[in-house]
Amino acid sequence: MKIGILGAGSIGGTVGTLWAQAGHEVRFGTRHPGEVKGLVERLGARASAGTPEDAARFGDAVLLAVPVAAVPALGRAIANLVAGKVVLDASNAYRNRDGALADAAMGHPQGSSGWVASTLVRSPRPSGWCAMRDSGQSSSARWARASSSNPTRRSMGVECGRPM
Ligand SMILES: NC(=O)c1ccc[n+]([C@@H]2O[C@H](COP(=O)([O-])OP(=O)(O)OC[C@H]3O[C@@H](n4cnc5c(N)ncnc54)[C@H](OP(=O)(O)O)[C@@H]3O)[C@@H](O)[C@H]2O)c1
Repeated sequence: MKIGILGAGSIGGTVGTLWAQAGHEVRFGTRHPGEVKGLVERLGARASAGTPEDAARFGDAVLLAVPVAAVPALGRAIANLVAGKVVLDASNAYRNRDGALADAAMGHPQGSSGWVASTLVRSPRPSGWCAMRDSGQSSSARWARASSSNPTRRSMGVECGRPM
């Protein structure tokens, strides 16, 4: 599957690495794609990097792994590119990092991922959004933790819905 990953930091880089290792094609989208050259080279032919728009266009599904404060502008830039696609949202809203936008996000009736989804709504609507949860794991690397029943499988907690 082709997956666009917006943000190549702790979360985007970790989850993107695991998806590439699992056989998916990933494209990281950041404002500084040159800075993830090393990561892309380590992952090999299944990984590439470009602008956020490149990654949104590339993916059949898209992961948002950026600070909440980046979401409104990013949403405007990619909304048409993700229409009809599933968007996974990893972001958390923190007032000390995201300012007043954190309050707006946390005040949304569907929580901060509902607020993120609302920034992506165009016509036609995104087909769905999913909020990814750390599930109490202390390290982002453990997001994709080995399943106890099958150590070759990896899983992460998600909740999905449609934007209001
Ligand atoms: N759900 C969970 O359990 C969980 C756990 C940890 C973190 N998070 C959340 O996941 C998100 C990412 O966290 P992180 O730790 O990976 O952050 P990080 O390491 O700081 O990485 C952030 C990434 O976003 C990119 N970025 C920042 N501003 C951008 C913009 N305006 N447009 C496009 N890309 C932008 C950065 O690249 P450039 O600056 O080069 O663009 C960078 O690649 C945050 O919202 C964080 O709170 C969630």
